[in-house]
Amino acid sequence: MRLVVMVSGSGTNLQAIIDALHKGDVDVDIVAVGADKPCVGLERAEAAGIDTFLVPLANYPEREQWNRSLERAIANYNPDRVVFAGFMRIVDAQLVERFAGRIINTHPSLLPSFPGAHAVRDAMNFGVKVTGATVHEVVADVDAGPILAQVAVPVQSEDTEESLHERIKSAERGLLVNALAALSREVNFDLPIEEQS
Ligand code: GRF
Repeated sequence: MRLVVMVSGSGTNLQAIIDALHKGDVDVDIVAVGADKPCVGLERAEAAGIDTFLVPLANYPEREQWNRSLERAIANYNPDRVVFAGFMRIVDAQLVERFAGRIINTHPSLLPSFPGAHAVRDAMNFGVKVTGATVHEVVADVDAGPILAQVAVPVQSEDTEESLHERIKSAERGLLVNALAALSREVNFDLPIEEQS
């Protein structure tokens, strides 16, 4: 399963996939890591010897041009799946359509609760006692696609937004790796069946 992984920040979810790959826990090939800005995630990819590309929004006068450029950069690697692993940009419907059903996102809440860029803060402000992480298919609407996997994380009374997000991320990394392992098994499992028909 050829993966293009998109990142914007610290890239610990990306690192979890790389580590699982090295341990043989997941049968995927990270063919490239892309980002919308220079970030630690890109450095992690470079350190692992993975191809990288950068498509900064600020370089494009129109968001439409940024979307088309990002779409081309991803398509260039002919991925089976595109993983938004802490990729903090909203892409347009045309890009989603180009890779329809093949983009997955990880989000730090139990969707459909608390979509958007401040999921951990919003969950805390609401006062929930349990939150978590969701791996889901990307559709044109933000944080709205079919749910593939979820993990629950209890909120503790002494939590800050940072401490809660760190605990969510610990659970989220395992969730993402397990979801990719399941998806890659499906790809491999389907092949002999198709050959028989
Ligand atoms: C994750 O919690 C992800 O769901 C959210 O931002 C965080 C990214 O963490 N959108 P990292 O960059 O993988 O460390």
